[in-house]
Amino acid sequence: MTTRIIGTGSYAPENRVTNDDLAKIMETSDEWIRTRTGISERHISSGEGTSFMAAEAAKQALEMAGVKAEELDIILLATSSPDKCFPSGACEVQAAIGAKNAVAFDLSAACSGFIFALNTVHSFFKSGIYKTGLIIGCDELSKLVDWSDRRTCVLFGDGAGAAVVKADETGIKHLIMGSDGVKGPVLECVSRTTENFLTKGHPQVGYMTMDGQEVFKFAVKKVPECIRQLLEETGVDKEEIKYFVLHQANYRIFESIAKRLDVSLDRFPMNIDRYGNTSGASIPLILDEMNREGKFEKGDKIIIAGFGAGLTWGATLMEW
Ligand code: UT7
Repeated sequence: MTTRIIGTGSYAPENRVTNDDLAKIMETSDEWIRTRTGISERHISSGEGTSFMAAEAAKQALEMAGVKAEELDIILLATSSPDKCFPSGACEVQAAIGAKNAVAFDLSAACSGFIFALNTVHSFFKSGIYKTGLIIGCDELSKLVDWSDRRTCVLFGDGAGAAVVKADETGIKHLIMGSDGVKGPVLECVSRTTENFLTKGHPQVGYMTMDGQEVFKFAVKKVPECIRQLLEETGVDKEEIKYFVLHQANYRIFESIAKRLDVSLDRFPMNIDRYGNTSGASIPLILDEMNREGKFEKGDKIIIAGFGAGLTWGATLMEW
């Protein structure tokens, strides 16, 4: 028994912010952003909230799958930017869609979150505990980025993507996940600090900080490594893989990974130009876009791979 994606959905806020819009409020330019990252515009929340975006993507995925919300056994929301400390965003989605029979919880693995969530639900399916699940990757990083730090804020956008999964005979073939907490400080966002009434302090709210070059080096080394391992352990040749669906972080990261794997860049689908880096949402968002464009046919082998804060990384080989 394995795990098959039977429906996908996505949501992005209506508010589109172009590079030129950003150049009006900070010292940057369309030329710098496009040539360094491949991003032209991103969707930025006007207050939609993580749970709302996640629920909208979920509704679309359920509709495509032809699955009723009450049939769901489990809902996993991968996010680093929930609206509340508690209840979890997954519980809010559960309430919004009426999935009264599901267990719901959030999972924090930043940009690797969707893959970690997919692999976690897969484990429940393999052990026979659950049969029908909803996995959502959603982030509203616009509330976590430091808008005075042009080195990071121009990279990110908000959005959500979702997949309904079912225990089935075909689907996930193999998976890899990893973490390296020691390298955590290269990409972090400190939560509310412990100052309070008793310590006579005011809680501080942190913003995202990133050592861009370290993250870049990590991504272009780790992603090809994990894809090679996945291919080796499944005995699948890289030429059998129709698409390498990667976390949408940076066009130059794609170029470098494609070169290292010696695979043509056109097998790496991209929508980073229109969405920027939407963190946990990026993989399900592009999966949904491709799915709705009819890019996947039954039996296609695809690899999805992600990397991000933690540091974390993961890859999954699946048959559509
Ligand atoms: O999900 C994972 C998320 N993280 C990533 O994907 C990050 C991966 N890293 C990268 O993609 C790249 O490191 C960046 C795109 C973030 C930065 O590119 P870079 O080539 O590493 O640039 P840099 O940080 O070395 O900066 C080069 C110059 C600096 O100016 P000086 O010191 O050479 O005069 C920066 O101040 O570019 C300047 N700069 C900018 N200029 C205009 C940095 N950000 C901007 C900006 N607009 N937005």
